[in-house]
Amino acid sequence: NHIITHAHSLKIRSQKWLAPHIPIHQQNASSKLRQNMRLPSQSLFSKTIALLFSKRSTRTRIAAETSAELLGGRALFLGREDIQLGVNESARDTAQVISGMCQGIFARVGDHSEIEELAQYSKVPVLNALSSLWHPTQILADLLTLHENAGAFSREALEEEKKNMKRMTPILPELPPLTIAYVGDCANVLNDMLVTYPRLGHKVKVAAPLQYRSPPEVMARVKELGCDQNIEWFEDPKEAVWNANVIVNDTWISMGQEAEKADRLKAFEGYQVTEELCKFASPDWRFMHCLPRKPHEVNDAVFYGPRSLAFPEAENRKWTIMALFDLQFGRWNLDPPKPET
Ligand code: CP
Ligand code: NVA
Repeated sequence: NHIITHAHSLKIRSQKWLAPHIPIHQQNASSKLRQNMRLPSQSLFSKTIALLFSKRSTRTRIAAETSAELLGGRALFLGREDIQLGVNESARDTAQVISGMCQGIFARVGDHSEIEELAQYSKVPVLNALSSLWHPTQILADLLTLHENAGAFSREALEEEKKNMKRMTPILPELPPLTIAYVGDCANVLNDMLVTYPRLGHKVKVAAPLQYRSPPEVMARVKELGCDQNIEWFEDPKEAVWNANVIVNDTWISMGQEAEKADRLKAFEGYQVTEELCKFASPDWRFMHCLPRKPHEVNDAVFYGPRSLAFPEAENRKWTIMALFDLQFGRWNLDPPKPET
């Protein structure tokens, strides 16, 4: 919640700063307004975050690069074709070298064990930009997007949103308890939903073919956090979507699974999100997708329709990653540095 609130505040202030011009009626603004229009912070001034990405990325990379710049620092993109890692050098040696020169690592890896290894040998914090098991920063953006749209789900939040129109610095409306349905492959994005939403009071209902449910190591963590009480599993998408406020899906073929494409397309037949399927949802339903998206997962009518939050969700990758960088690496961070290993 702290990250989401911070992301919202950074978003409002950055958008004011980035607006093409200061409107005439604000040019003689009061000192309070001018204060609200200051740059968010220079908390990354002279700091470098290494973006160690072994897989493609549009959103996560752009979010990290542009937000580090807004915070006065630098995100240094290190793709798999750029550095020695994996060809001439081990993860252990790479982690030690990068952490001698950069103040943080944001890593997108294949197998989850790769990020564990980086974290073990890095002297600076390592954040997960996507692994085979988890995609934590995606869920931060999803949560901010849901809060911003809370008025769709609750009368109180709608009132709050109306009041916000008159406020200089809008308050992020509270979310009522939601039912969130996920339809499709139980991959990294769903796995983070499973360990996040139940702890915030929301129910998660999942529809997936039996052989594509979350793996045991994820389910062990779900149980350890007590999230299993608020999760229901189905094979039939209609049952999962029944009365849901939010419907979410993701690709059926995650990066690295391209060889399984034919089997997966067959296994997920009948799991496409369509307006027909969404008729089973609560009348206030909204749709979310992390992107990139293929039409076989969700048709154009839903994806480009008025209930879709997919593009605001994509933009919110920036503000939530910015909040994370500010809180984790920023010079105002009061946490003690990680001890030497
Ligand atoms: N949602 C997401 O992580 O997108 P990218 O793979 O483009 O970063
Ligand atoms: N499950 C997808 C998410 C992409 C953002 C993948 O891992 O490719």
